[in-house]
Amino acid sequence: MRLLVTGGAGYVGSVVAAQLIEAGHEVTVLDDLSTGHEDAVPEGARFVRADIREADQALDGVEAVLHFAAKSLVGESVREPGRYWAGNLGGTLALLDAMRDKGVGRIVFSSTAATYGEPERSPIEESDPTRPTNPYGASKLAVDTALSAYAGLRGLGAVSLRYFNVAGAYGRYRERHAVETHLIPNVLKVATGERESVSVFGTDYPTADGTCVRDYIHVSDLAKAHLLALGAITPGEHEIYNLGSGTGFSVQEVISVCREVTGHEIPAVVGERRPGDPAVLVASSARIQRELGWKAERASLRDIVSDAWGALSGK
Ligand code: UFG
Repeated sequence: MRLLVTGGAGYVGSVVAAQLIEAGHEVTVLDDLSTGHEDAVPEGARFVRADIREADQALDGVEAVLHFAAKSLVGESVREPGRYWAGNLGGTLALLDAMRDKGVGRIVFSSTAATYGEPERSPIEESDPTRPTNPYGASKLAVDTALSAYAGLRGLGAVSLRYFNVAGAYGRYRERHAVETHLIPNVLKVATGERESVSVFGTDYPTADGTCVRDYIHVSDLAKAHLLALGAITPGEHEIYNLGSGTGFSVQEVISVCREVTGHEIPAVVGERRPGDPAVLVASSARIQRELGWKAERASLRDIVSDAWGALSGK
């Protein structure tokens, strides 16, 4: 298929673009490089440097859009909510209008576990309440709401994938954020010598060891779900699927696995809780397994950390 990948110079977008090209699709990447890297655009993709509000120039002949371009830092979204509403919701609405004008009726959307907020039960299912606790999650939820409406009103075919904690690397494609807030890359930066220690944000949560529990999914498994979603799009319908491994690991457990994989002692310093962090976030991915046949292949935390470490350290 002829596909447009917005945000294809970013972490998840570049891995999906690479897998789409490997599967024989014709890919155009649209990215304004505000957080992405041009050298992350896979070989074989056409690259258009532009904002998603200017997507019309890249939509001719396109059969479906995979939409990753977004602002995605929870803390920043609390400080600068307007940028999240304008970029994530406003930008996506402009993209959807451009798609309508060009007759492109299919989209796979990069949604997030942050749409759920503080969960009432674990693992979280797609039918659970969505009560985001920050503007990032709220802006992504608003897009999910718009996609459902446009599916009914305009016959758009859409699939939203709600990612839990994405980590790991796919070949040369890895996480490279200018401001790194995520746990695994921050822990590994201690092993490379870029940081002296990692901060553990709170040890007084109601979990087995007192640190927050998250559901880590390998970026390669996550990317595969996008190819399945693309094949499952039905005009006039909007489907939502969670994507995680179904298993939770605490911050301390993640640091331990990073120590084993890197052979580095990785000093950890206990700090304050980070505002807005739920104690436990674990996905039920039963729906995508049942309906699309998705299965995690590199599900162990050790595999995820090993691949992230390999891409970071060249080992
Ligand atoms: N943490 C630390 N030290 C660090 C970094 C993180 O202790 O240096 C802790 C956090 O407090 C949290 C856990 O490690 O308990 C994971 O934190 P991340 O920042 O790696 O990931 P989050 O769970 O906060 O965020 C992820 C996605 C977001 C998404 C969110 C859904 O990265 O995009 O899940 O709640 F919104």
